[in-house]
Amino acid sequence: MTGQSQAALEQAIATRRELVNDAIAEELSATEPVRLYEASRYLLDAGGKRLRPTILLLVAESLADADPADLDYRSFPADGDDIDLLKAAVSVEVIQSFTLIHDDIMDDDDLRRGVPAVHREYDLSTAILAGDTLYSTAFEKLVETGAAPARSVEAVSTLASTCTRICEGQSLDIEFESRDAVATDEYLEMVELKTAVLYATSAAIPAVLVGADEATVDSLYGYGLDVGRAFQIQDDLLDLTTPSEKLGKQRGSDLVEGKQTLVTLHAREQGVDVDDLVDTDSVEAVDEAEIEAAVDRLREAGSISFAREMASDLVESGQENLDVLPDNDQRARLEDIAEYLIEREY
Ligand code: IPE
Ligand code: IPE
Ligand code: MG
Ligand code: MG
Ligand code: MG
Repeated sequence: MTGQSQAALEQAIATRRELVNDAIAEELSATEPVRLYEASRYLLDAGGKRLRPTILLLVAESLADADPADLDYRSFPADGDDIDLLKAAVSVEVIQSFTLIHDDIMDDDDLRRGVPAVHREYDLSTAILAGDTLYSTAFEKLVETGAAPARSVEAVSTLASTCTRICEGQSLDIEFESRDAVATDEYLEMVELKTAVLYATSAAIPAVLVGADEATVDSLYGYGLDVGRAFQIQDDLLDLTTPSEKLGKQRGSDLVEGKQTLVTLHAREQGVDVDDLVDTDSVEAVDEAEIEAAVDRLREAGSISFAREMASDLVESGQENLDVLPDNDQRARLEDIAEYLIEREY
């Protein structure tokens, strides 16, 4: 990515993150019981990159092929109708937060978005309920866009099956922890399910809502699947390489939990004793020097570059799917965001 497109991308993400943050504040007004609603808002307010709603907005803008200055996101042109696109953007980000709350319980992680995980800040029951509340709220928001009924139903149905797929992926992720070996294809299927489908849905839903043809919807879904898989490979790499303060999550958590990633499955094939890389079973006890030594070992085995190369191939194939969009600035930003997903440092 050139310096110029990097700057344009950062600006594009920052502008849309603000829009989404304002919309979250408007759409999720706290009610009683206070503790439940506070816990539901807690992670949303702690930050987050808002990459999925940013992709959703950019796809809709690209399809509208209009100057963003002329677009009203609450009254967005959709083939004769006006739709509230921000409700859809909020919906996917709320699903993202729901999955994070439950993921931290499952992964026994204490830190998220730079603050204590919901089940640590509150308690386990409140965290489960906060996640469930966000899960159902996302669907309430998605049916309120004002899109034609058939389009609304298709969008809701897509998001619902995505949530089912995420559960399947998370289930495989946990199951893999106790496996001696996992094949590359098995890993790719697992991350498609737990992570990439939400990217795919974020790219496809705006096309569904504005009435794009099926081939366009399918191609955008394909973009999200490829870049979403690449995103998860980078997430796995960052777990190894990025200090917790920068990451907002505990570095090395995957090694302690015994997660199977592209890096570890490659290292196993090279004869590295992955289960012995860190000598602790508690995330709090793992120290930076221990992780550094593990990363050196993985680097020597060629496992870090193996994962990076696969992520890069996925980004390239994802970008090819953007041909269905008009050739405009928003399409260029979607191309750049794909690269950013694997170049990001947190
Ligand atoms: C983290 O997603 C969860 C994964 C699927 C790996 P992000 O890295 O997008 O997290 P936030 O939303 O920016 O906090
Ligand atoms: C998360 O995968 C997938 C989700 C569906 C949330 P990870 O477990 O790797 O995500 P982080 O690293 O905790 O954000
Ligand atoms: Mg996790
Ligand atoms: Mg997890
Ligand atoms: Mg991770």
